[in-house]
Amino acid sequence: MEFPFDINQLFSERISILDQNLIASRQSKEKPDLRVKIATVLDELGKASAKAQDLPAPITSASKLQFQKHQLYLMKDGESSRGRGVVVGFLKVGYKKLFLLDRNGVHIEVEPLCVLDFYIAENLQRHGYGIELFNFMLQHQNVEPVLLAYDRPSTKLLAFLARHYNLRQSVPQVNNFVAFEDFFHKRAVSQ
Ligand code: ACO
Repeated sequence: MEFPFDINQLFSERISILDQNLIASRQSKEKPDLRVKIATVLDELGKASAKAQDLPAPITSASKLQFQKHQLYLMKDGESSRGRGVVVGFLKVGYKKLFLLDRNGVHIEVEPLCVLDFYIAENLQRHGYGIELFNFMLQHQNVEPVLLAYDRPSTKLLAFLARHYNLRQSVPQVNNFVAFEDFFHKRAVSQ
């Protein structure tokens, strides 16, 4: 995704981690317009993701990020667009208290890290950016994909998880979240 400003000026790393602050407060005091530009990027990404998933409204925006304790991993390609950079996509995660049904149909209360929103720009999908971003998040959070819960995963995300992590068998739930078979077993072992 291209923007009418320099993406490299906003995001110095290939993958940046944004949270409630959007950017470090020191940086925002020096350059208040950075915050506005970052908000524009997040709002556009949220809209594009909602459109790709046929959602009635975006679940990611700058204002939502400021009021929720989520972490958003944003990936850029710094060389494209004549060196101004383009935004490749994002992955948003956060902890949620959930009631999930285990393999015996028993309700258990858990608070796993959840995949909440994930989007790679249309023209860049199926080029390996998604797995690079996802693996970065796994390493940063020090977690395995099977220990995550997935909020209303799209068909593309389910195919992605099967393809890259061999996650295929999920345990049926009564909410929108998907947890895979080993979630309950591995969780118990790792506690
Ligand atoms: N159809 C089916 N599977 C797909 C498709 C597609 N159009 N695109 C990606 N995949 C899956 C496949 O398993 C594919 O492997 P294959 O090409 O060998 O079949 C694999 O993803 C490719 O891996 P990457 O290139 O690393 O993934 P990508 O960069 O495409 O990112 C993502 C995956 C984020 C799901 C991307 O396709 C996307 O943005 N889709 C639209 C938005 C979306 O559905 N996001 C998930 C929402 S649900 C949630 O966030 C909880």
